[in-house]
Amino acid sequence: MRSFILIRGFLAALSTGLAFAQDEPDTGEHPDWPRWCGKVYQSGYPSFEPGGRTVAPPTNGSTFLHVQFKPRYSLYLSTETKASFVVNAALSPWFGEEYANSTSDGASTDPFTELVFSIGLVGDDAPLVEDRIGINATGAEFEFELASLEPRITPYEVVLIGSSVHGDHNYTATSELLYLPDNPEGSATKIDHVRGGLLFKNAQTGHEFVPLLPYGYYGLYNGSNDTAASDEFVRDYTSSGKGLNAIISLAGFADTNPVYDSMDEQGLHFMFDLRGSYKNLTETEQRVNTIKYHTSLFAYWTADEPDGWQVPFDKTPAAQALIHKLDPYHPVAITLNCQDYYFEPYAAGGDILMEDVYPIGINSTFSKWGTACNATLGDCGCDNCKGGIQDVPSRLDDLAQYEAWLGRWPLPKFHNPQVFHGEDYWFRDPTAAEAHAMNALAFNRGATGIFGWTWPSSAALFDAHSQMASVVTSAPVKNFLLGGNPERLVVEGYELLDAAYWIEGDKMMVSVVNGGYEDIQKSVSIVLPASATDIESVAFGGLLWQLLGGRLVIDGLPAVSTSFIILNLDALE
Ligand SMILES: *[C@@H]1O[C@H](CO)[C@@H](O)[C@H](O)[C@H]1NC(C)=O
Ligand SMILES: *[C@@H]1O[C@H](CO)[C@@H](O)[C@H](O)[C@H]1NC(C)=O
Ligand SMILES: *[C@@H]1O[C@H](CO)[C@@H](O)[C@H](O)[C@H]1NC(C)=O
Ligand SMILES: *[C@@H]1O[C@H](CO)[C@@H](O)[C@H](O)[C@H]1NC(C)=O
Ligand SMILES: *[C@@H]1O[C@H](CO)[C@@H](O)[C@H](O)[C@H]1NC(C)=O
Ligand SMILES: *[C@@H]1O[C@H](CO)[C@@H](O)[C@H](O)[C@H]1NC(C)=O
Ligand SMILES: *[C@@H]1O[C@H](CO)[C@@H](O)[C@H](O)[C@H]1NC(C)=O
Ligand SMILES: *[C@@H]1O[C@H](CO)[C@@H](O)[C@H](O)[C@H]1NC(C)=O
Ligand SMILES: *[C@@H]1O[C@H](CO)[C@@H](O)[C@H](O)[C@H]1NC(C)=O
Repeated sequence: MRSFILIRGFLAALSTGLAFAQDEPDTGEHPDWPRWCGKVYQSGYPSFEPGGRTVAPPTNGSTFLHVQFKPRYSLYLSTETKASFVVNAALSPWFGEEYANSTSDGASTDPFTELVFSIGLVGDDAPLVEDRIGINATGAEFEFELASLEPRITPYEVVLIGSSVHGDHNYTATSELLYLPDNPEGSATKIDHVRGGLLFKNAQTGHEFVPLLPYGYYGLYNGSNDTAASDEFVRDYTSSGKGLNAIISLAGFADTNPVYDSMDEQGLHFMFDLRGSYKNLTETEQRVNTIKYHTSLFAYWTADEPDGWQVPFDKTPAAQALIHKLDPYHPVAITLNCQDYYFEPYAAGGDILMEDVYPIGINSTFSKWGTACNATLGDCGCDNCKGGIQDVPSRLDDLAQYEAWLGRWPLPKFHNPQVFHGEDYWFRDPTAAEAHAMNALAFNRGATGIFGWTWPSSAALFDAHSQMASVVTSAPVKNFLLGGNPERLVVEGYELLDAAYWIEGDKMMVSVVNGGYEDIQKSVSIVLPASATDIESVAFGGLLWQLLGGRLVIDGLPAVSTSFIILNLDALE
């Protein structure tokens, strides 16, 4: 969030004139003008094209075979015996080597329908996997034994070599495999490269990796050195373990503060705040080495809105690389604020991507600085936003689109809800209904974590978020939300009705959000993608949904309402 850092940055600048000189030059055009997301925001300057837009790569009419692979999980521990690789062999208009549906050895010619491949360590002839994958198949998983590898703290470079059956077309791809010595005293977090969520282990999980949907605030603790006070803070924040399950610990106090021990004891997962340190690798190293053994540490947070601040591109990746070296057991998250400003380099320094779209109560067209806001000018508190609930899903759609255009493996996405107002950008808090709807819309786009700005918030929003957290961070809802990318459901006739579903085993969860500010006063009927026998529960929202003729039906839908409905599927299908 900008103003907070503005103050920090200002204080830092006062205390060390050097800190800023070190950051030069900023990115984009006119670096000497006051800019946010590359656009000038104070009056008296001309508007200009800020640059850094992410666009579809050029095509030339050819089809390419884009082979990509990754380990299923971002890390494995020495206590594990099996791992797997996930392989994509997608046809693409942009990436990979040219593809034609034909393979020949001179004597015979066949359609090119399968890629024969092997995956192994770079420089080692013994393959870990040898198999085949259908052309245009994605997400195929291939298991292998970890026994032949030595656990170590640096990743193994791995390579996939694939070819058509007759060997006249070759394709290669590289990746990294992290197989670490177990750390029984500490914690570890895996990213699931298929489903986009996290798994977490420590002594409290019995050293087993369990799915974690972190939900909390960027939280300010008062810094008291007293253990009773920090215990009390954690109890209040988590509603004694029944509400929020995670925090980004905005550090205004020593890294040795007992609050981190209180979090360990009460199982409050924390993301460690390095946003004031990540540009200084010496400081980053000291702080990571102080904190890395905590059992409730689940991730690090480095750059806060580096795109908004036009921070030099190399800062975030440098911090990420150092943190990985010092502590390979935990991922690094970053927060991006801009809608379309150099996504490619700015997203490069994170293992987890958070977006902080704060769209409620803004004037999206004219700013407090006295300028218009549009794609080439101004800062209205939410970059290129319309000023409403839909800005959240639309941003997540944008980020996914950029990753596809860049040919990147999608990162886990966390949503940062607006839990504040003020600064002449945001004229009111979101309502509880808006807070729930925006989070649900983020889940409908595959978000796997929630961190609101900031604790403490109004009591009403704290209740709203704690209530939602209690539902989405535990089974059964958690397992759906972390169960893989949601599929959208089209509900004809309602532009602002957004529905998605997840299937886990013999159950399906449907999330329905009426993002409109008017009640829908007639019956709404949603065609389901699978045959259900009955509604098991309405897990969130408390509305009276029914299953009628294979459809999910309700008499009407209140304005800005959110429902999670769990159904039992027909086993015979
Ligand atoms: C498209 O570009 C690739 C090289 O990037 C080239 O091999 C191919 O022939 C081009 N296709 C057409 C239709 O020009
Ligand atoms: C390649 O040709 C075969 C045989 O005609 C066909 O079954 C297959 O769908 C084609 N694959 C692609 C990706 O075009
Ligand atoms: C390849 O898969 C994509 C995504 O599923 C699909 O849209 C496309 O039609 C497929 N292409 C061919 C040639 O089968
Ligand atoms: C593909 O790789 C195989 C094995 O390394 C090699 O024998 C063959 O010549 C390569 N084919 C092409 C077209 O590069
Ligand atoms: C911090 O908050 C706790 C209770 O939450 C209180 O007991 C303590 O006095 C406060 N300490 C400071 C330094 O403000
Ligand atoms: C907490 O204790 C540490 C170490 O004793 C000290 O450096 C720090 O100033 C104390 N902070 C507060 C808020 O009392
Ligand atoms: C970086 O951090 C170290 C350790 O805290 C400090 O000594 C040094 O002055 C910092 N460098 C800059 C340029 O701020
Ligand atoms: C935004 O601010 C401008 C200038 O004060 C005003 O004319 C306009 O009506 C405002 N728009 C909204 C939606 O409040
Ligand atoms: C943004 O607003 C400025 C000032 O009204 C105008 O000059 C500029 O053309 C606008 N840019 C776009 C993309 O509409």
